[in-house]
Amino acid sequence: MPAVSVVVKKPLLNVLNGHRQKSPPVWMMRQAGRYLPEYRATREKAGSFLGLCFNPELAAEVTLQPLRRFNFDGAILFSDILVVPYALGRNVDFVTGEGPKLEPIGAPETARSIRKEVDHGVLAPVYETIGRVKAVLPDDVTFLGFCGAPWTVATYMIAGQGTPDQAPARVFAYRHPDVFDDLIQVLVKASAEYLIRQIKAGVDAVQIFDTWAGVLPPEEFSRWCIAPTRRLVLAVRDAVPDAKIIGFPRGAGSSLERYVAEVPVDAVSLDWMIDKTFARERVQRVKPVQGNLDPLALIAGGRALDESVDAVMRAFSDGPFIFNLGPGITPEAPIENVERMLRRVRGR
Ligand code: CP3
Repeated sequence: MPAVSVVVKKPLLNVLNGHRQKSPPVWMMRQAGRYLPEYRATREKAGSFLGLCFNPELAAEVTLQPLRRFNFDGAILFSDILVVPYALGRNVDFVTGEGPKLEPIGAPETARSIRKEVDHGVLAPVYETIGRVKAVLPDDVTFLGFCGAPWTVATYMIAGQGTPDQAPARVFAYRHPDVFDDLIQVLVKASAEYLIRQIKAGVDAVQIFDTWAGVLPPEEFSRWCIAPTRRLVLAVRDAVPDAKIIGFPRGAGSSLERYVAEVPVDAVSLDWMIDKTFARERVQRVKPVQGNLDPLALIAGGRALDESVDAVMRAFSDGPFIFNLGPGITPEAPIENVERMLRRVRGR
């Protein structure tokens, strides 16, 4: 039965199909990043961060670097969620030590003037990176693509940067709901096309990062997180009916229950703040979960790390589960702590 043996080969994909694995598959958000000396070296060679994202040879290299070291069960495409606004014609820059800088949007007329279609020519190097990684990826590794959720990408487009609670986007959405909704629609369409092309280029599954979902009050959460993400997922499935999709509405708290009921993703990624009993009973009972080690425990190491890993394993390893962080690894995390975490998860 070839179909079965293909499935069995990729433990992470098995979980996305609803099957618990004896030892949970493991990967880390931001696994290609500044905590790795080999990443820092390649990043320097590329010059700018966007130069790295759009250089298929170097982007494929940094995608593969963490796998060589840690044998992760998942590889995540090296790119960024902000390549979508860039492909919509916005200026996007990454300032070392400060994070992303975009031209902010203050006036509704500016939002209205934004291009309605992404330029897939700009994104072509990303699709080429996928082909290059795919060609050399071990058979048992699941290849993940990704995009930002429309709300999170819109918050960076409006504010022009990360802020403590993305207030500029929330104020804009209250003041100009129709204009904001049009921007969200543009992002739903652009992101759907982007994910569909990633899947066609060879990723096995995709993750939708809604990093700023947690700043929204309940009604706004429905309007700007749940509804657009639902439309995005349905648009991807329209083109690729069996597309595997992970949702990550970071900071959603008790609203996660509605997210799970209303957004037809295959699995939900949990942040480190969520009550684990709540997550097991209200989320994992409905679909597979991924998460949710506190990335700061990975900085601390030692007993604190061991206990944090054990707590995550105790909470979720009886059901379909992918071990991960909630959210990504920080540049300060020592590599030996990653190794220690992996030994503990894998039981050796
Ligand atoms: O290994 C991976 O996870 C794949 C690559 C990846 C990056 N960004 C590379 C990156 C992924 C999946 C992302 C997603 C992303 N980008 C998110 C959602 C996840 C999250 O962390 O909440 C967001 C909000 C962004 C936007 C973004 N890009 C920010 C806020 C920053 C600055 C923060 C920082 O860590 O510096 C970036 C830059 C960025 N994206 C870096 C990397 C490796 C560091 C920049 C550098 O190398 O100079």
